[in-house]
Amino acid sequence: MAIREILKMGDARLLRVAKPVTVFDSDDLHRLILDLLDTMAAANGAGLAAPQIGVDLQLVIFGTDAPNPRYPDAPLVPRTVLINPVITPLPDASGALLEDEDWEGCLSVPGLRAVVPRFARIRYAGFDQYGDPIDRKVEGFHARVVQHECDHLIGKLYPMRVRDFSRFGFTEVLFPGLDAVQDD
Ligand code: NI
Repeated sequence: MAIREILKMGDARLLRVAKPVTVFDSDDLHRLILDLLDTMAAANGAGLAAPQIGVDLQLVIFGTDAPNPRYPDAPLVPRTVLINPVITPLPDASGALLEDEDWEGCLSVPGLRAVVPRFARIRYAGFDQYGDPIDRKVEGFHARVVQHECDHLIGKLYPMRVRDFSRFGFTEVLFPGLDAVQDD
């Protein structure tokens, strides 16, 4: 439908706690999702949250049907529309809540990457655009993408999760040649 402007860090609209979606399967909701999909595709994003285009709703999209040029080695995450999500970290067999560390970028923080700790395994639940329930247990990159996107719904950008600022910098410096023509 339309490629929308992606808000950048510093815009107060990225710091809001988003409102739940109350009406499903509406023309407005479907139009918003098409805009998010178009905007994510144009930016080669791994995911996009409604607040990133200035829409104050608990709605994120993520995943692709083909490898993402920005994350060519990442496992494929199914294309998903997730509304009103609830994330629960899952313990491992010994009962411990494990964290993973890996590099993240964000379309609202262009040109930068950092190592961000995330829960290694999560359950996420919510609804799709038709109001049908989604309930999945995932790990690794899939779990990371969901946690990153859902953070946008509570006003959190990944730099707020960084613990080791020696592993935070410009993509072109950290990974020369990786994103030579693409911005985050
Ligand atoms: Ni982001």
